[in-house]
Amino acid sequence: MSEVVTIKSITDEAYDTKTFRFDWDAEVKPGQFIMIWIPGVDEIPMSVSGISDTEKSVTVKAIGDATKKIHELKVGDKLSIRGPFGNGFDLSSRNILIIGGGVGTAAIMPAVVQTGADTIIAARSDRDVIMDSIAGSKASNVWIATDDGSRGFHGNAVQLMKEKLALKKYDCIIACGPEVMLYFTFKACQELGQKCQLSLERYMKCGAGVCGCCVMDDQRVCRDGPVFTNDQIEKLTEFGVSKRDECGRIVKFR
Ligand SMILES: Cc1cc2nc3c(=O)[nH]c(=O)nc-3n(C[C@H](O)[C@H](O)[C@H](O)COP(=O)(O)OP(=O)(O)OC[C@H]3O[C@@H](n4cnc5c(N)ncnc54)[C@H](O)[C@@H]3O)c2cc1C
Ligand code: FES
Repeated sequence: MSEVVTIKSITDEAYDTKTFRFDWDAEVKPGQFIMIWIPGVDEIPMSVSGISDTEKSVTVKAIGDATKKIHELKVGDKLSIRGPFGNGFDLSSRNILIIGGGVGTAAIMPAVVQTGADTIIAARSDRDVIMDSIAGSKASNVWIATDDGSRGFHGNAVQLMKEKLALKKYDCIIACGPEVMLYFTFKACQELGQKCQLSLERYMKCGAGVCGCCVMDDQRVCRDGPVFTNDQIEKLTEFGVSKRDECGRIVKFR
């Protein structure tokens, strides 16, 4: 369903990241995303970062033409959106550890708010940490990890996750972040026999399972995902290895 919504408020999360809130009464599950159309530029996928009954939000990191254009918008401006799309997280496990890396933190925040589960927020440095105050107000524990040690644990999300798993048993890990983080999260979970659900990112055009842009092996990330379980990920030969660009060309991660 396509709709035009009006921006109600804007919050700076970091020097390059802003949250845009708008009234939208659609039912959205934690981990789902919408497509945002920026006229004359592009239509791009964005996780829904806040999902109260009537109000929703997206948290956008400015990296290219479309996201920079969104950053220019002011309160009262309109956003053209389609969705919600994707499956979202299964939050039925009792003890969940939630991990957000970089702007992937936006995708996990509704799960943090809904469950109050222990949460790791990882970023390159203190200035890149986002949404720690909302997580702090809802989660039982919030642990910050920074690559450069400028705040919290000195190291990456996976190193901190391993430390936490040594101290407490969790039924499921939920994570969203850069693919390298998700790859090593998955490998660590495999070694430890730990269940996980990871939210993956691929180039998307339709968002609705039609165009085939986002395929990974036999899965359409927009429709069958973006959240995949460890059992599903085990069968994805492209996970952590390659993705497709906007022309369908294969781009290697390493
Ligand atoms: C399911 C999903 C949820 C996402 N959630 C968020 C979020 O909550 N916050 C956020 O800041 N970003 C999110 N992204 C990433 C966001 O869509 C890209 O940063 C954005 O599309 C970049 O567009 P651009 O024109 O600004 O940059 P460009 O310069 O056009 O692209 C920069 C990079 O962004 C990626 N990208 C560009 N267009 C697309 C596209 N149509 N689909 C997927 N990736 C693309 C490519 O890797 C590209 O190399 C999400 C992506 C997906 C697939
Ligand atoms: S983006 Fe079109 S099938 Fe996934």
